[in-house]
Amino acid sequence: MINRNKGPDYESLQLHREGQAEAFDAIGDRYDEAFPHKEGQVSAGEWLIRSLPTGSRVLDLGCGTGVPTARQMVDAGFEVVGIDLSRGMVELAREYVPGATFHQMDLADLRPGGPRDLGRFEAAAAFFSLLMLPRMEIPLALLTVRHLLVPGGLFALSMVEADVDDVPIPFLGNTIRVSGYLREELRTVIETAGFRIVEETSYAYAPAVPDVPPEEQIFLCCQMC
Ligand SMILES: C[S@@+](CC[C@H](N)C(=O)[O-])C[C@H]1O[C@@H](n2cnc3c(N)ncnc32)[C@H](O)[C@@H]1O
Repeated sequence: MINRNKGPDYESLQLHREGQAEAFDAIGDRYDEAFPHKEGQVSAGEWLIRSLPTGSRVLDLGCGTGVPTARQMVDAGFEVVGIDLSRGMVELAREYVPGATFHQMDLADLRPGGPRDLGRFEAAAAFFSLLMLPRMEIPLALLTVRHLLVPGGLFALSMVEADVDDVPIPFLGNTIRVSGYLREELRTVIETAGFRIVEETSYAYAPAVPDVPPEEQIFLCCQMC
């Protein structure tokens, strides 16, 4: 595989996951209550459904509760696998989306040559999950997505537009660390990793709780070049 990433590799990177899974274990169902409006995510899911052949395998990376994406993909008849770092989220996803298979694992475990292998997929989704990685790791995560896809595979993702790297923020009574990019830079990161952006949408979003400030959400529907 071509390594388009000119930065560090996983071996030279110290992964700091402390608190990230624990925060989502504690947040549980409150995540969906805080973010009740999922139009952008659902419509990116509809793009996958329109574009994929029957019987496709779809991987939901950082699947959370499995709602809406894993459920939407199961309802469309795909074979769906979800992974999440948080055991609590995986338990909720198994309850809410019994038609999919869920694994508690780190996305980094799926890297080329990594300890876990779930096979290859026609499509992957990563809605608001790559933002929980430090910027230095995001190109490596995108390389992992490429490794997990069949040639020409599809990739739908979302990020919050913000010029931040691994900054702690209060989130639903917990602290999580998040990263983001301004729109142009996000496009460059995705394209440099070897994806063609087919569709882009964005939404100004005010979460339904006071401790999460309004945000601009960017959804990208991409194809592996
Ligand atoms: C903001 S939530 C989004 C959940 C879901 N994708 C959605 O859109 O509703 C981010 C999810 O990514 C998971 N996550 C964070 N870091 C991860 C990692 N390194 N590997 C796998 N999952 C991770 C978190 O546990 C959390 O469930």
